[in-house]
Amino acid sequence: MKIGVIGAGRLGICFALLCEAAGYDVLVSDIRKDYVDSLNNREIVTNEPEVENLLKRSKNFHATTDNRQVIRECDLIYTLVATPSLDDGSYDVSAVWDVVNNLREEMTTIGNTVKNFVVGCTTNPGDCDKFRKELPRSVRVFYNPEFIAQGSIVNDLRKADMVLLGSDPFDSDNAVLKDITSLYQKIQTTRAIVCRMSTTAAEITKIALNCFLTTKISYANMLGDTLRQAGCGDEISGVLNAIGTDSRVGRKYLGYGFGYGGPCLPRDNRAFAHFAKSVGLDYNLGYVTDEINNQHAKFLCDYYESLNGKGIPFYFDSITYKKGTDILTESQQFRLCEDLLKRGFSVYILNDRRVTPQVYDSLTQEFGDRVKFVDNKDNITEPIFIVNT
Ligand SMILES: NC(=O)c1ccc[n+]([C@@H]2O[C@H](COP(=O)([O-])OP(=O)(O)OC[C@H]3O[C@@H](n4cnc5c(N)ncnc54)[C@H](O)[C@@H]3O)[C@@H](O)[C@H]2O)c1
Repeated sequence: MKIGVIGAGRLGICFALLCEAAGYDVLVSDIRKDYVDSLNNREIVTNEPEVENLLKRSKNFHATTDNRQVIRECDLIYTLVATPSLDDGSYDVSAVWDVVNNLREEMTTIGNTVKNFVVGCTTNPGDCDKFRKELPRSVRVFYNPEFIAQGSIVNDLRKADMVLLGSDPFDSDNAVLKDITSLYQKIQTTRAIVCRMSTTAAEITKIALNCFLTTKISYANMLGDTLRQAGCGDEISGVLNAIGTDSRVGRKYLGYGFGYGGPCLPRDNRAFAHFAKSVGLDYNLGYVTDEINNQHAKFLCDYYESLNGKGIPFYFDSITYKKGTDILTESQQFRLCEDLLKRGFSVYILNDRRVTPQVYDSLTQEFGDRVKFVDNKDNITEPIFIVNT
């Protein structure tokens, strides 16, 4: 079986290379020609662990800029193009529609050949049904999103708890579902539980699961802030540990620290809130969770200010949303750094060649020499207040 991956970005390339390593012939496509050329030369610039090695070792892996070639040559066609968020919280799936149009065009050439189209991107509930309606009956549409985090994508794909698989509920042919399940069995080092349902239910599950995680994070931070305010700041981890010990709650995502950020959790939380509203329900859990995340950021800034009566400079060894990544999207660490600068403090930031260029101009223009980038904390000659990132 030949596997196609249309959209070989952060997630797509990891998924494609794991399929190749599992023994499949893999063809990926991407609109970025230079990137496609470098993939074919077995070169990639990434901070995702293992990807460079997987690419270098790959034999049955090829890249093209031609989506229709992928559609023509592959049996199982994944798409992992980007789906940015719109202002109302829903997802802009226009790039997926481009791929659907490619499929429609190619199907007029190759006729009634059966093709299996697997949407792995995050979409709005109901989108896969809309794609299905616009495609010929010989194209079967599935929804199979991944539950991974930046900075550990390969590892997370290997160790996922669940394979979420949405399909047309009226399609009784299980062969493709078996193929997809078997693909994951080959990729994964742990045995994931396969959860099957309609594509719309699977689209809801994807964003609702992340909405649960954001709720859990905001709960833990809200509780931690309350304990601190009540004079029990030293016992936050003890309290959260006790609550997490109850197996109905669980310890994961129940730590006290920065609020949630990055390119996935905040977006899925808002997408779910938007979806509930769009079906006529006035449930505001997602909005409240976001508001607590916001209030917690202010609480943290007040807290650090209160600890630093002498006004010595703060020091950040990372300002990304997760250490080891180069992603500043909704980074709560970066927000704290900016908030402290706005309150008149000076800040040292450990220099990271992937991150510094993204913020250098704006920070130095706004805050002048109150913000300094250093290659080594030990070279700082004045007292500093280290922020625990
Ligand atoms: N990266 C993650 O951690 C993560 C986690 C969960 C879900 N997702 C979802 O996976 C999807 C992909 O995310 P990503 O982070 O890999 O995005 P990305 O922006 O890194 O990659 C998307 C890739 O698609 C390519 N592309 C865009 N339009 C195309 C087209 N018409 N034809 C072919 N290629 C095209 C882009 O050039 C890019 O390389 C999104 O829906 C995202 O929400 C990502």
